[in-house]
Formats: sequence, C-alpha cells, structure tokens
Amino acid sequence: MKTRVTLHRDFVISEIDDRLYGAFLEHMGRAIYGGIFEPGHPQADEQGFRRDVLALVRELAPPVVRYPGGNFVSSYNWEDGIGPWEVRPVRLDLAWHSRESNQVGIHEFADWCEQAGTEMMLAVNLGSRDLDAARNFIEYVNHPGGSAWSDERIRNGRRDPWNVRLWCLGNEMDGPWQIGRKSADEYGHLAHETGKALRAFDRNIELVACGSSNPDMASYPQWEATVLDHCYETVDYISLHMYFTNHEDRLGDYLALAEKLDRYIVSIGGVIDYMRAKKRTRHQVHICFDEWNVWYHSVEQDRRILQGSDWPFAPPILEDVYNVEDALLIGCVLNTFIRRSDRVRIACIAQLVNVIAPIMTETGGSVWRQTLFYPLLFASRHGRGRALDVRVDGPVYQTRELEEVPCLDVAAVHDEAGERVTLFIVNRDPQQALELDVALEGFDHATLREHQCLIHPHMKAVNTACTPDHVKPQPGEGLRVEEGRLRGQVAPLSYHMVGVR
Ligand code: AHR
Repeated sequence: MKTRVTLHRDFVISEIDDRLYGAFLEHMGRAIYGGIFEPGHPQADEQGFRRDVLALVRELAPPVVRYPGGNFVSSYNWEDGIGPWEVRPVRLDLAWHSRESNQVGIHEFADWCEQAGTEMMLAVNLGSRDLDAARNFIEYVNHPGGSAWSDERIRNGRRDPWNVRLWCLGNEMDGPWQIGRKSADEYGHLAHETGKALRAFDRNIELVACGSSNPDMASYPQWEATVLDHCYETVDYISLHMYFTNHEDRLGDYLALAEKLDRYIVSIGGVIDYMRAKKRTRHQVHICFDEWNVWYHSVEQDRRILQGSDWPFAPPILEDVYNVEDALLIGCVLNTFIRRSDRVRIACIAQLVNVIAPIMTETGGSVWRQTLFYPLLFASRHGRGRALDVRVDGPVYQTRELEEVPCLDVAAVHDEAGERVTLFIVNRDPQQALELDVALEGFDHATLREHQCLIHPHMKAVNTACTPDHVKPQPGEGLRVEEGRLRGQVAPLSYHMVGVR
C-alpha cells in the first residue's frame, strides 16, 4: 500500500533539547544495588560501579539522569546518604517495602554520572518533608563553601559544588500511593514556596513541578491547571508520566498508545497556554516527561515478591522483559516526543538499569541490552538537531480507544552540523508492507548513508542473559534515495532508522 510522506528542510517544528533522551534511576529494586553498583562484582571498579553497565549507559548516552526517585524520594532523607559508609543508617523504604542501605548517596551518584558522561537531575522530597530539607540539599549540592551544608560536603570529600541545574519539586504528588500525597492546591502552594526558596538560592536553576501521574487520573487535567495557577511563574516545566501496558494482548491498540500520548501532550500544552494567558506573562513553561516506558510484564511477579512481611534488600521488582512489540511502541513514543519537541523539552526513560529498563544485569553475572535499547540508542544518537514537520498520507487502522490511527509512524530530525537527516519509521501494520515515497524537499542531492532495521519473525521474542543478541538491529534493505526521494518497502511490524546526507 502506498504511503506518501513530505518533509522540507525549512519546515522546522523545533530545535530539540538533547535532554529529550534522558533517563531515570531510582533507589528501588536492583536499579542501584545490583544494577549500577555492585562491589565485589568482577567488573566493579574501586568504587563499586560496574564497568560493564557503564559501557552500555555510555552507548545510550543519556544527557541527563533523574535521581533518586520516583516514589522513593517521597520518604527519603538525603542526609542519610552522606558521610562515612559505616555510619550511614539502614532505613525502611515505605514506597517499595524494601531495606535501603544508603551505601549510594549523592556523592556516589555524582561520581557515577561523571563516569557515565551525564548530568544529574535531582528530585527533592515534598512528601514526608518540606522546603527546609530542600533548601539544605541545594546548599549542600550547589554552594561553593563557607556555609554549614557546603562545608559539610567539603568535609565529606567533595571540594567543588556540583552545580546541578535541574530540580524536581517532588514526585507524582497527585497519586494516592504517594507518601505525603497532596491536593492540587496544597501541592501547588508548596511547589511555589519551595521553588521560590530554591530560586532565592540560585536564580539560574530550572524547576520542575509535578503534573499528572498518567492521563487516566481522575484529577487530570484539572491538576495541572490548579498547580500551575499557584506556581506558573516559579517553575520552568510541568512533569508528566505515562506507562504503557498490553495486558489484553491487542497489538494494534497497544501500538496506538503513542497517539494517546500525543493527545496527552497536546492537552497539557493547552493548559499551559491558558495559564500563560491568564497570568499575562511572557514566561513559557514546557513539559518535562520525566517518567515513561512500557510497564506491565512484571506486575504479577512483583505482587508475589512484595506480598511478604519482610523488608528485602534490592528485591528483583519491576524487571519487565521486553519483546519486539515493546520495541516498536518505544519507537513510536520517541517519534511522538520528537514531533512534540516544541512542548516536550526533557524526557526520561524510566528507568535505566534492571527496573523497567533497557539494560539488564544478573547480580554477579552478565549485562545485556533489552529489545527496546535499540530505538532508544538510535534516537539518542541521531535524534539531535531540528525536528522537521513530516506530513504523512497513507493507510490508517481502527483501534478501540482512539479510532483511526495511521499505519506508518514517522519522525525526522535534521542535524545541520552533521549535514544529515534521519528518519525514524515504524510500520504498525501487522500484515501489509508499505510502499514508501518520501519527498525530501530541500535535500535534493541526498544519498542514503545508513539504514538500520529492527524486525523479527516472532513478536514475543526477547533478549535474556543466555540469548543477549536474539533481537538486535540489522542493516536494512529495500530502501533507496534518488532525485530527492526516499523510496522502497517497509515490512509489516518493523522499525527503521534511515540516515540521509
Ligand atoms: O518508575 C517506577 C515508579 O513509577 C516511580 O517510582 C513512580 O514515580 C511511578 O509511579
């Protein structure tokens, strides 16, 4: 079936913020302990960080990593993670019913980020604590010295401040599951007051207020309107979260969830515009999509693990094993973020290692890439530059929740410095190959430089410790570029990264 696509060099949606390809690491499950940090592992460095994990993180190259939570942050005392390891307290983490040893704290995480080549994005606890703990934390992290908390940091071995730029004001404060949940009015007020205090400390930081935990929350989108009414001019971003599920095993509906994501972003964009007009301000708030991923494979198993009355240390929870379907959806989600990069400046895949993650480890053993590692890798490597407006005219299919959805999902990014246009293409059609005809306007002399394809005969195929490369990209076939047009067939249920120069 024919699909006509048009893009133009000068029809630009937005300059993409590199932080669109960020990630998230929470103190939960085996993300930190047994994930990035495992002293005694054959691959551990002198600080206990796994070199093999770091190598895969560097490959993905997330420009920013959000930390330390998630739900965890809402009952976390950041002071527990500083000072000599021997005297750090063991705490009971109420969010995940686990034991927290505090062997990793801000110093260790900062060192890890330095090694990973990424920036820290820190969350403050606005669940069980308030602005006082937050202002002490930023003083500890960002003040050069000569004050109580900054001198404490220096005594703990770090002379220079870390100068962390991006701060999250709590996490999912709309969720009944959140420790210290607030109403929208309570939270909006607290976010404004805390933001004000942090800004008084440093005018140049960027602040993120909590939006909805997902678009099915009863309080959505009134939550955003109320919160922003309190703090629109104090914050730079409103955060959104969304996790995708396929419990009913309906592939067409599942792959269409990227459209639901799109409507979520558009609606919150509308709330932002409304509030900007109401406040009569030039200040522009953007969206920080600081948690997103597929999360459903592990739900049953986690129920069993967390049922016990004990408080396990680093239990193997949220260890979703991802298949080919999940990788295709992730491709569509990333395309949505690229197409909405005028609204969404920052996004963090949740999470990075072991917990609903592209990178998996065995404690004491190997590390491998899950299926969804690959669309992330390609987007992070080739999705930096300007998002181009792509028009698609082709077949659609019916879904249960969203009615008609296009079979072909496309995003395009122009990297002017590298003189390259990259197209990210997903064919959601389960049966039909699509006959592609892309007009590359303004790129008349372009030639095909790279074509990688993710396709597999079994949609439920996964990678494991024993078969780490069962699903992996391969050089694509069947596409050609001539006279400013990209033409050829894209197979059913396949993902493509096509580089043209
Ligand atoms: O990423 C797992 C959890 O999902 C986070 O802790 C929380 O913010 C969200 O509900």
